[in-house]
Amino acid sequence: MANVENNLSAILVIFGGTGDLTHRKLIPALYNLVVDKLLPKNFAIVSVGRRNKSEEEYKQDMYKTLSDFSRNEVDDKHWARLANMLHYYQFDFTNQEGFTGLKTYLDELDGKANTGGNRVFYLAVAPEYFETIVSGLHESNMTKKEGSWSRLIIEKPFGKDLKTARKLNNKLLEVFDERSIYRIDHYLGKEMIQNIMVLRFCNTVFESIWNNKFIDNVQISLTEKLGVGTRSGYYEKSGAMRDMVQSHILQILSLVAMEPPINLKTDSIRTEKQKVLQAIEEITPAFLRNNVVFGQYGKGVIDGTPVPGYREEPNVPADSNTETFVALKLHINNFRWAGTPFYIRTGKRMGTASGEIVIQFKDLPNILYFQDKEIQDPNLLVLRIQPNVGVFFQFNTKDFTTHNGIIPTKMDTSHYNPTQGNTPEAYERLIYDILRGDATLFPRWDEVEAAWSFADQIIKYRENKILQFPNYDAGSMGPVSAFELLARDGRKWWNI
Ligand code: BG6
Repeated sequence: MANVENNLSAILVIFGGTGDLTHRKLIPALYNLVVDKLLPKNFAIVSVGRRNKSEEEYKQDMYKTLSDFSRNEVDDKHWARLANMLHYYQFDFTNQEGFTGLKTYLDELDGKANTGGNRVFYLAVAPEYFETIVSGLHESNMTKKEGSWSRLIIEKPFGKDLKTARKLNNKLLEVFDERSIYRIDHYLGKEMIQNIMVLRFCNTVFESIWNNKFIDNVQISLTEKLGVGTRSGYYEKSGAMRDMVQSHILQILSLVAMEPPINLKTDSIRTEKQKVLQAIEEITPAFLRNNVVFGQYGKGVIDGTPVPGYREEPNVPADSNTETFVALKLHINNFRWAGTPFYIRTGKRMGTASGEIVIQFKDLPNILYFQDKEIQDPNLLVLRIQPNVGVFFQFNTKDFTTHNGIIPTKMDTSHYNPTQGNTPEAYERLIYDILRGDATLFPRWDEVEAAWSFADQIIKYRENKILQFPNYDAGSMGPVSAFELLARDGRKWWNI
C-alpha cells in the first residue's frame, strides 16, 4: 500500500477516553493489535477523560471492557503489554488552558516511551466538541513539531449537512493538512468492502462485463433488525439519510461503480471514488417525487418478540418525522453506467439484518430457452457484506431431474461471520492503517463534500414534508412504496 510512513512510533491520544466508543471498539481493537503484534514497539496510549479516576482504576475498567467486547480472550500476558502502554489523563477539554498541561504531559511521556514526538489525536467525542479540541491542540502548539508528525482521527458524523461539514473542515484545515486527517467510516474497514476492488479488478469475468451493457441494475441493501436503542437523541436529528446513506452507502456505491484507478495509491483510488459521486444524476423535483421513499417503523415483532414503534421509543416525540428507512433509485451519468439504475435501501427494525450488494445481469433473449417461463432467472452476483461474508453467484443449468428443465444454480462461497457488525475488527484495520499513515480506507474531503451535496437535497425534501408515519411494521422489509419503486420498473428487491 502507498504512502506508508516508516516511523511508526507514536502516542495515541484518545479524547473521550471514558466514553462508549473507547470501551466497545477502541480498547478492544488496540488489545487485538497487541495480540497480533501490530502495534509499534515504541507506542503509548493516553486516554483523556473528564472523570476523576486514578490510572489504576482506569486500567481496571478497560480490563473489564475487554472481557465484554474483545474478539480474542483476554490473556494476561497480552493485557500486561497493553496496560503498560495505557495512561489516563484527567482533564476537561472545554477548558482551553488545560491543553498546556496535556502538552507537557505528552512531551514528558515522549522521553519515557521513545515516541519521537509523533501524535495521533482520536476525537472519540460528540461532534460538538470537534472544533473545541482542535483549537485547543492548535493554541497549545501540540500539532506541529520539527521532525515528527501529527494525525487527527474524526468519527462520524462529519457535519450534519454540507454547510456544517464545510465549516468543520475549514477549521480542521487551519491546523492539519488534508493528508493528516482521517475521517472514519467503519464500513471501509470491513473485509467485504475492501474485497470489492479485488473482485472487480482481479477477475476478467467480472470486470469485462461490469457496465451498462451487461448489468441490468445494482442493489445496495443494508438492513438492520435493531431499532434506535438508546441513541434517539442523536438519531432524531439524523435519520437514515445522514446516518447510513451519506456515509456508508455512498462509499459502497463509489467502490462498486468507480473506474479502475491508475495504481493503488491512496489518492488515485479516492479520485476515482469521488468522480462517481460527482456523476450522480441531478436531483430534480421529479427525482424527489418518484425516486425517493422514506419510512418509519411502527410497532411489530422481531424474532418472535414484540417491539415498540419508533415514536414509542424513549425520548422520541410522538409526532416524530424522522425517517428510519430510505429507499432510492439513482443513475450514475457516465459512459459506464448511464441507463443502469442503482437501487439503495437501508432501514432499522427490518425483518432481516444483512448487508448485500446485488448485481443483476441482463437477460439473454428468450429465443432458445425460457419461452414458456414468464421470467428468466437472471445471473446474479451478490457480494455479501454481513452477517455472511463472501460471494454468491447464480447461473442457469440443465435440471437433470427433468427432460428439458432449466434451473438456477446457486454457488455460494460465503460463510457466516457473526462478528461482522459494527465491531472492533473494522477499527483494528483502521487504526493500524492510521499508524502506518495509509489513508486509503478513509474518505477524502471532496468525497465527503460530494456525498453531502447529494444527501442534503433529499434530507431537505424530507424535512419540509409531513410524512404519513409510521408506514412499515417492525419486522417487515419496509414500506410498500419501496417495493413499488422497483415494481414500476418491472424489477424486485432480491433477498438472497
Ligand atoms: C453506524 C450507524 O454508523 O452504523 C448506526 O450510526 C448503525 O445507526 C451502524 O446501526 C451499522 O453498522 P454495522 O457495522 O453494524 O452494520
